[in-house]
Order: sequence, then structure tokens, then C-alpha cells
Amino acid sequence: GGVITIDPGYKNTGSCQSAVTFLDGEKGILRYRGYSIEELAEKADFLEVAYLLIFGELPTKEQNEKFHSDIKAQSIVDEDIKKILDAFPKSAHPMGVISSLTSALTAFNPSSVNVDSEEEMYKSVVRILGKFPVLVAWTLRKKQGLPLDYGDNSLGYVENILKMMFKKPNGDYTQSKILVDALDKLLILHADHEQNCSTSTVRIVGSSHAGLFASISAGISALWGPLHGGANQAVLEMLEAIKEDGGDTKKYMAKAKDKNDPFRLMGFGHRVYKNFDPRAKIIKKAADEVLGNLGIEDPILDIAKGLEKEALEDQYFVDRKLYPNVDFYSGIIYRGMGISTDMFTVMFALGRLPGWIAQWREMRLRKEPIGRPRQIYTGETERAFVSIEER
Ligand code: CMC
Repeated sequence: GGVITIDPGYKNTGSCQSAVTFLDGEKGILRYRGYSIEELAEKADFLEVAYLLIFGELPTKEQNEKFHSDIKAQSIVDEDIKKILDAFPKSAHPMGVISSLTSALTAFNPSSVNVDSEEEMYKSVVRILGKFPVLVAWTLRKKQGLPLDYGDNSLGYVENILKMMFKKPNGDYTQSKILVDALDKLLILHADHEQNCSTSTVRIVGSSHAGLFASISAGISALWGPLHGGANQAVLEMLEAIKEDGGDTKKYMAKAKDKNDPFRLMGFGHRVYKNFDPRAKIIKKAADEVLGNLGIEDPILDIAKGLEKEALEDQYFVDRKLYPNVDFYSGIIYRGMGISTDMFTVMFALGRLPGWIAQWREMRLRKEPIGRPRQIYTGETERAFVSIEER
């Protein structure tokens, strides 16, 4: 019984209680388990942040080492996964591929766990953290026609990801501290963001007691869209288009403001941040540093900065409190690192993985009920069936 009120897009609906991530959109505050994103991005590494998000505390040295070595032990996937990957055309979008491969993991690994067993829970966590980077590297390499291989377990988690992605067919790989630090920071900044579209998807799919891999595969699909994680690819394509168009930012600003034009300024605006996106601030600075350190001068960075400046002074954007979000500058860094545009959202997924796991785990441990919203029906009332001859 009771009255149903609707809130399309859940703009003002709280779906759960959560102790993972705190976000104050007015003040531009983001904290994982109480630690500020600024401090974590500066001082922690991605695996420590993953542990923090999932288990609630920063790991001790021993916990950290055990976590890493348990993940390494899981950094293999069934060779038959290669057959599934082979069936995709090279033109397939990596997000579709990675979502399918993640779902395919359920065929080779226990897909549902006894959530009352700490041990089984822990195993499923390290399993996905070990296997997902392999799938990411294989997806990228397959697209480029490179041989598929496993990682180098003597390396750190993030270092190993880069090596798996960029190792030459002859095994050559040049380590770069600049790239490792940059990717580490980007992954940390993407690691969780409370009840966003993909995380809500993971929680709701998991609430039917579907397994972790299946829930994460659904989250990847949700992340793919250009209004969510797909924005990082869309931003770069937009900046490229502006460059091709002679750098005419004013023209694109006008398009973004024109209500008859579906074009939006990609990488701008956020459902919750109405002052600034703290992640964007850090990423903008990192883009300058990383490109500077790599000795890259990318004209697209100047276009992005120009666009940001114009937007921040423009009444349309000021009135609607639209600021650059996490996706505005991240692609410029990925590009500087040599990652192709269509892989950007996969990199986002790699970063968001600990958040999805943490939120799924929390949802199961709290024994949340199955997610099942209601509706207000607006269709036909009761009517009599009409046979096909009489229609
Ligand atoms: N360019 C132009 N106008 C915009 C933009 C934009 N990027 N974003 C919002 N608006 C306008 C919108 O047209 C509306 O105007 P009006 O009130 O006149 O109708 C007003 O601002 C409010 O927008 P909304 O669409 O109702 O807000 P929302 O909370 O439903 O959407 C959003 C949030 C992020 C989907 C949206 O701002 C957007 O589409 N941005 C571009 C895509 C993007 O960068 N997405 C990444 C989001 S952050 C990372 C992530 O989630 O993965």
C-alpha cells in the first residue's frame, strides 16, 4: 500500500546506507572511508586504496603484501577465454568486449559465493582484481594484433598492468616511473564515487544474489554510456573535432548552449558536484605535469583549457553550475601515455573496479533486500482482446 512518488533518474532518492565514500557536491569534497581524495592521490598507491575501499581500513604492511601476493596468484585466466576474444572482430568496441569477457569469467570460476564466509568473500575479491587487468591487456592487444600473454609478477600491480599492455612482441618493455605514477593517480581518482549509475547497477544486479563477476559485467555496460564513463572518450573526440575545425571553441560553446542542438560540452556538468569536481582539479594539474615530464606538447590540452576558461565565465554554465568533471582532462593524460581513445573507458573501469567490489560486498554483508522500484502506470486501462482479423 502507500502512496508512490516518482523521482526519474533518482535525482533525490537515497538507495542505501553506505560507509564507503563520502561526497559533498556543494563543497567539492570526496573522501574514501574518511580519507580525502587529495591525500590518497598524493600518498597512497592504487592497491592500498582498493584494500581501503573494500575492507574499510588502510592495510598494514603485512596485509598489503598478502593482498598483493594473493592477487598475483590469481592473475591468470582460463586459456579458453582467448577463444571468446578471438570471436570478436577487431573493430569491436573494447567496452563491449571487456564486459563480455568479465561475464565469461563466470563460466570458469565459481560465480556465486557464500557471503557469510569471510574466506570465500576474500577469494572472490582477489580473483577479480587478479584477472580483470589480464582481460584489459588482452582486449587492447587483440585490437592491435599483438600476442596475448600474462604479466610479470615481480612488478607492482599498476606497473604490471602497463607492462601487460605495452610489452612488445619480442618481450621488450621500458619501465617508466612517470607513467606508473600517472596511472596510479588516475586509477585512485576513479576508484569509487558512491551511488553513480554503474555502481548502482552493480548493487542492484547483485541484490538478486547474482555473482560478483556478473554484477561487475553489468556495471561495465552501465559505465560505457557517454553520459557516464564513456564521456572520457567523447571528450577527446570533441577536442579533436574542435581542433580539426580550426580551434573554434566559441562555435562549440554556442552549440552546447543551443537547446535545439543535442550537442553537450562533454566532460562538463555533474549530477552531484555543483561547485567543482575535486578529481578534475587534481587531474588538470596531473595533465600538465605528465605531459611536461614526457616532453609532449598536445594542442588539445590548450583547447581544453580554453574551453574551460570560456565556460567558467559563461552565464549559461554559471547559472547551471556546470564545471569540468573527472572525464574532462583524464583522456589527455591517457593519450599522452599512448593509450588509444577507445580504451579510455576501459581504463575508467579498471579504476572503478575496487569501488564496485566494495559496494557489492557492503550490499551483501548488510543483507540488503532485492532492488525493486515501483512505478506509476500510465498505459491503457483494461480492454478486450481484438483478434488479428479485426485489427
Ligand atoms: N553541456 C551543456 N549543457 C549541459 C551540460 C553540458 N555538458 N550538462 C548539463 N547541461 C544543462 C542541461 O541541458 C540542463 O539545462 P536546462 O536546465 O536548461 O534544461 C542543466 O544543465 C541540468 O542538466 P541535467 O542534464 O538535468 O543534469 P543531470 O544531473 O541529469 O546530468 C550529466 C548530469 C553529467 C549527465 C550532464 O551534466 C552531462 O550530460 N554532461 C556531459 C557528459 C559528461 O561529461 N558525463 C560525465 C559525468 S562525470 C563522470 C561520470 O559519471 O562518469
